[in-house]
Amino acid sequence: MTSPVLNDRRVLLGVSGGIAAYKVIELVRMLRTLGARVDVTMTGAAEQFVTATTFETLTRQPVRRDVFEQWTETDAGHVSLAENADILVIAPATANTIAKIAHGFADDMLTVSVLACPGPVLIAPAMDHHMYLNQATQANLETLRSRGIEILGPEEGELASGILGHGRLSPPEQILGKIRSILGRTGPLAGRKIVVSSGATREPIDPIRFITNRSSGRMGHAIAQALIDAGARTTLVSAPTDLDPPIDSHVVNVESAGDMHEAVASHIRDADALIMAAAVGDYAPTGVSQEKVKKTEQDLSIELTRTVDILATTQRPGLIKIGFAAETANLVEYARQKLTSKGVDLLVANDARLAMASDENQATFFRPGREPEELPLMSKADLARRIVEELSQILRAEHPEPEFPDATTT
Ligand code: CTP
Repeated sequence: MTSPVLNDRRVLLGVSGGIAAYKVIELVRMLRTLGARVDVTMTGAAEQFVTATTFETLTRQPVRRDVFEQWTETDAGHVSLAENADILVIAPATANTIAKIAHGFADDMLTVSVLACPGPVLIAPAMDHHMYLNQATQANLETLRSRGIEILGPEEGELASGILGHGRLSPPEQILGKIRSILGRTGPLAGRKIVVSSGATREPIDPIRFITNRSSGRMGHAIAQALIDAGARTTLVSAPTDLDPPIDSHVVNVESAGDMHEAVASHIRDADALIMAAAVGDYAPTGVSQEKVKKTEQDLSIELTRTVDILATTQRPGLIKIGFAAETANLVEYARQKLTSKGVDLLVANDARLAMASDENQATFFRPGREPEELPLMSKADLARRIVEELSQILRAEHPEPEFPDATTT
């Protein structure tokens, strides 16, 4: 399953010599799955930990380490990899490699590539806790930051030495997320701010019980990732889910429909669009018990009060709205009603039973004044991209320029 933000993009991965080198093998696999071409350059020390053969098998490209490799007519030897890369990622970056880069050394393919790379550079450090906290390393990282190089991590946790501390390589999923975010910056939604909701709200009964639904949040989170891939500043208003939010989304965690309403109202003030993918509770218990409700011999009835319909009531001139219709019957009829009653620019209707527990979804687009468009069954990631493409078109047609180009807050 490829992704436009990575498909046919060239990622140059520089691997330096730390035990965490084995973790970037997984990063390479993920990048390849999403369609990227990955070239790898390794330092001599990296080869103490992993073999070039592993990377060559996964990338189907030779690992480059020799600065003096033969030039060809189309390949200017030592600098061509870096010049042709859409992004250079150094993971793991050891203290030594970071120091060399900070001081402009060029004594192997990896450091030559940093100097020769006209595009973005992302560094994911990994090292011993004391080496990381050492003033020399901190100063070197500051130097790199001041030159516009992006630094991801390291994380705190158990290190190879067995001690707990700072120095763990960021997980491959996070490095991948950062690569997507950096490559997405020039996408069609650059300069736009979009708010997307996700997850299943929880309406409390008492301090330990709540009413919720089966939504996993996969659709909303996939939309947040697709928005970041397209360059949008993305605010993810998330009711509880088991999912990790996409890297570089601005996450606002909420529990109940009321909390979500408040968060959406405050974050759409400077947003271009709102996408309501959350499964919002329509009813909440009337009056939350402050103490645990004790069982008795009698049956229990809980009185429920209607919650606010966030999508229908959220309005601001110029705000584009996209909503979902989760149905189990009469999909077309209900979807047409919701298109009007919620005042949306696009309504994505789906069979709730099929969508809930799956990574796939089959949806129909309803737009004002147009016939419904039935989409084939596809992954939620693909459907998210279709929705984001549709949003880009609507925004281009209605507001050719971002409404709040100077807004820097998420
Ligand atoms: N929605 C909302 N606020 C609510 C309920 C729903 O903003 N209190 C949004 C959902 O996020 C979705 C759309 O409205 O984008 C439709 O949600 P859905 O559950 O399909 O419909 P409901 O409006 O809740 O109506 P019903 O449950 O009767 O189908």
